[in-house]
Amino acid sequence: MVDTVHVPLEGREYDIRIGEGLITRAGAEIAPLLKRARVAVVTDENVAKAHLAALEAGLRAEGIDSVALVLPAGESTKSWEQFSRTVEWLIAQKVERRDVVVAFGGGVIGDLVGFAAAVLRRGVRFVQVPTSLLAQVDSSVGGKTGINSPMGKNLIGAFHQPALVLADILALGTLTSRDFLAGYGEVQKYGLLGDAQFFDWLEKNGPALAAGDLEKRAYAVRRSVEMKAEIVLRDETEQGDRALLNLGHTFCHALEAATGYGDRLLHGEGVAIGCALAFELSSRLGLCSQEAPSRVREHLAAMGMKKDLADIPGGLPDAEALLELMGQDKKVIDGQLRFILARGIGESFVTSDVPREVVLGVLKDGLSGRKQG
Ligand code: GLY
Repeated sequence: MVDTVHVPLEGREYDIRIGEGLITRAGAEIAPLLKRARVAVVTDENVAKAHLAALEAGLRAEGIDSVALVLPAGESTKSWEQFSRTVEWLIAQKVERRDVVVAFGGGVIGDLVGFAAAVLRRGVRFVQVPTSLLAQVDSSVGGKTGINSPMGKNLIGAFHQPALVLADILALGTLTSRDFLAGYGEVQKYGLLGDAQFFDWLEKNGPALAAGDLEKRAYAVRRSVEMKAEIVLRDETEQGDRALLNLGHTFCHALEAATGYGDRLLHGEGVAIGCALAFELSSRLGLCSQEAPSRVREHLAAMGMKKDLADIPGGLPDAEALLELMGQDKKVIDGQLRFILARGIGESFVTSDVPREVVLGVLKDGLSGRKQG
């Protein structure tokens, strides 16, 4: 069974299709978009090994020719070097203005290829075929594309909406448990930011979906994507509400910078810890009950995930230095840190009005490993 979430952005509307076997059926899904039966696919080494043959066969089954560029796997691929390599390759493959480029992989590939499609010939259409949970529930939807600068993550990019998103739930079966759970950090974020019932559902069903239940996986991806699509519709270019999607991210970005954007802390793990810290901060500001942050941490613990600063391996800078790193976040406006706080589970809002001392207190207690809540 395949579900569809429609994103009715005027003039750039698209469908997000969610279900089992969409990679092998990609030809039939993509064919209606094509003016000629040829696509250029960009992927990475890991995804190519696991799934490229299936995608190519699916395209061939509908008479669609494809060429593929296989990039190195990993965050360092989101660089000027791999970006210009991709754009030049697309030009060499004679990809025309009316053609379609396929971004086949996780968030790195989706972001880089989306940006390449945004600038190639001043913009060609692209299809996202996300293969990680993080890409399926977050980065493939909403049109944020880009690469990293040596000065910081995602500092170079463009808004460029995909023409179609194909989220194949079966592809999640080849993820390591750690990568799957990192993606789940973004899934639970949706419940926390705007849908208490979804969070209840995740508390009941999270362990089963992590263990491989396909129906539950499909439901969690669909609900996440529905929520993201609603927010993107209200505020495509992040003038307001879209910032809600950054629940946990102000803390997360500081933690990623402190741990070197590497294996010590995956992005989704940082989001999960960041959500717990954002709820802790909300509780200390008297915005929500003390039970709320405890419930967030309990759910992460039940999922076998990192839930606070003490769970990050290796040393961390002190609280002042972490706060300084939070100030480097690209979402700082006029030097003011913006936080997504909550009045309860599912009730988040954006604010800049947070006393520095309270943030420092949350970080200090987290660093000392003191039991919170
Ligand atoms: N990942 C946050 C957003 O798309 O706005």
